[in-house]
Amino acid sequence: MSEKVKHIYRVKTIHGPNLNLLGTRETQIYGSETLTTINQKLTVLAQKENVFIDFFQSNHEGELIDVLQNAHDYHGFLFNPAAYTHTSIALRDTLLAMNKPFVEIHLSDINQREDFRKKSYFSDIALAIEFGKGAQSYYDGFTRLINHLKGDK
Ligand code: DQA
Repeated sequence: MSEKVKHIYRVKTIHGPNLNLLGTRETQIYGSETLTTINQKLTVLAQKENVFIDFFQSNHEGELIDVLQNAHDYHGFLFNPAAYTHTSIALRDTLLAMNKPFVEIHLSDINQREDFRKKSYFSDIALAIEFGKGAQSYYDGFTRLINHLKGDK
């Protein structure tokens, strides 16, 4: 007998440019976990919470915008804009238009690196920002988002 799981929330995880290279890319900064592993661990966390989660990665700003614009049936986002963090008014505008809670994620501590990384176009509109903990930033970001959706803050 098959039982259909009813998820309470739907979360989309969006990874920006170059995050497909995690695991080999500047491991001294970003750690050695691959994007596949991060997504798998998030899936396990989501299953425990009875949350539907899915994932999208792109190296193209317009694709990220299109996916966000089409994410009407999600309750919130985990978003690592990667280098677009520091440049993209267009992605900021999309998130404002969607008007859904999102947690801004960074593996590295963007405040302790080059000056140009200190500027984020997302932090002031994000529910929270998780950074500087490697892959753990994603897992903590998931917990933040779910607690917020549950009303626990
Ligand atoms: C990053 C930080 C950004 O400055 C950088 O361009 C990235 C990854 C992070 O996860 O630490 O690509 O968002």
